[in-house]
Amino acid sequence: MLICPVCSAKLIKNERTYICEKSHSFDTAKEGYVNLLSGKHKAGELIGDNRDMARARRTFLEKGYYDFLADELCKYINQNDKLLDISCGEGYYTDYMRRKTGADVSGFDISKEMIRLAAKKYKEVSFFVANIARIPVESRSIDVAVQICAPFSEKEFARILKKDGMLLSVVPGKRHLWGLKEILYENPYENNEDTTEYECLEKADSITVSTKVTLTGQEEIMSLFAMTPYYYKTSEKDRQKLENLQTLTTELEFVIRKFVISE
Ligand SMILES: C[S@@+](CC[C@H](N)C(=O)[O-])C[C@H]1O[C@@H](n2cnc3c(N)ncnc32)[C@H](O)[C@@H]1O
Ligand SMILES: [Zn+2]
Repeated sequence: MLICPVCSAKLIKNERTYICEKSHSFDTAKEGYVNLLSGKHKAGELIGDNRDMARARRTFLEKGYYDFLADELCKYINQNDKLLDISCGEGYYTDYMRRKTGADVSGFDISKEMIRLAAKKYKEVSFFVANIARIPVESRSIDVAVQICAPFSEKEFARILKKDGMLLSVVPGKRHLWGLKEILYENPYENNEDTTEYECLEKADSITVSTKVTLTGQEEIMSLFAMTPYYYKTSEKDRQKLENLQTLTTELEFVIRKFVISE
């Protein structure tokens, strides 16, 4: 399934090395993932999410508050599917979908730190470091691609899907994290609906899933905060509003958009 990020030929795994017919080769890291970034990003400079974000994501997701989203995604996945989790982060959902569905699951992210954490913990999933702008995966090889709260790359997503494959793209819903925003901001805004139309991908379905949760304790509250975009946008003064909280009740809402390849 993997192709060479330099010349796009198939990669063959030879013990701990992936190699193509032109002898471009990529070693497996000790955690078991392979770095398939090429060009200027190859040296492993810090791109994508950093270590603190990766750890905050893991701490929060492992509490299970977002499992209602993962369970909904699993309804679209069959045991015989080849599934690719695009921009999979630290791998929580990736392994969750594998366990629940028995599908053949791989995941990638541009952040080496995220993939390092993912590969260290979830040994049954194949992880690699790559950029959505150039996904090192054969064309027409994926039954289900999942992309959760991450950037979009229309042409590449359409290229890797099998003809009858689907992309499940998850974006935050209007009321996602409303309770958190109400505490942080005087005049919180609802999230905008993403109505972008694509040429190569056609929206076949869209469902909204939501729930209300109460977080308890500073660890839960601050780890949720650290995995949101507000973490970087919030002033010190507003951030302090969270520091004395012991409980936080908030809506969680996601939109799952199902895309198929356009005729
Ligand atoms: C908000 S996180 C979501 C991670 C994961 N899907 C989850 O829900 O736990 C966004 C992810 O997109 C990754 N990302 C950003 N730009 C990317 C790119 N060009 N190619 C691949 N991944 C990218 C980040 O490193 C980060 O892990
Ligand atoms: Zn090559």
